[in-house]
Amino acid sequence: GSPLSPQVGKLIQEAAGKSNLKRVTLELGGKSPNIIFADADFELAVEQAHQGVFFNNGQCCTAGSRIFVEEPIYDEFVRRSVERARRRTLGNPFDPTTEQGPQVSVDQQRRVLEMIQSGITEGAKLECGGKAPPSKGFFVEPTVFSDVQDHMRIAKEEIFGPVQQIMKFKTIEEVIERANDTEYGLAAAVFTRDLNKAMTVSAAVQAGTVWINCYNALTCQCPFGGFKMSGNGRELGEIGLKEYTEVKTITMKMSGKNS
Ligand SMILES: *[C@@H]1O[C@H](CO)[C@@H](O)[C@H](O)[C@H]1NC(C)=O
Repeated sequence: GSPLSPQVGKLIQEAAGKSNLKRVTLELGGKSPNIIFADADFELAVEQAHQGVFFNNGQCCTAGSRIFVEEPIYDEFVRRSVERARRRTLGNPFDPTTEQGPQVSVDQQRRVLEMIQSGITEGAKLECGGKAPPSKGFFVEPTVFSDVQDHMRIAKEEIFGPVQQIMKFKTIEEVIERANDTEYGLAAAVFTRDLNKAMTVSAAVQAGTVWINCYNALTCQCPFGGFKMSGNGRELGEIGLKEYTEVKTITMKMSGKNS
């Protein structure tokens, strides 16, 4: 995924309109919710939520950067997520045992650190990380925030870095509304053993992809793209080919009849 902002997307669309009406499909990032119900497979949910946001140093359009956790398991979920983030190994990205390499540029590193600072200033609880380690390279420590409120910048803006936001919820109606209350709509995930909850959330949240009990499960057969400001059109799957297809109608008059 690319870190294209919706603003850049608008410029691309404008340029395409000014040339020869070029068609564009756009994928413009997200602030994807990951909803963990109390009945979920706990170990699976902790690990998938971790990988879902820290994959590729957080530089991922689908990053599950808003983790909504049901109240009864919230404290334990935070504790275990922090433990997991502290174990994440930083280092040379070409070493296969490394889990996290540096951010892509010094600007990106600065931007991520600035977002972390805003989280602290706005009153979220910094559980671990938050700094640039003193090593060479544009590293950012794996960072976990708990007690995150929906109005905070870290809960609304795409960070594109290794920063996990954890929030608490009480009811399914509440979490659907909060998860969907974003200008983005790229992906979402739900962890539960209850099929009804899984399907209710999947249908309600406006997101191009919804994962149930997994995260970042992408294959070439499955259409991928976003609702709302996450973009236009779809890549992959049959529907992805249609974006590159022009439909032609051929009508021929048959002889002998005038109708
Ligand atoms: C989701 O958000 C969109 C606007 O971003 C809104 O139109 C829609 O009604 C919302 N759906 C739910 C279930 O909240």
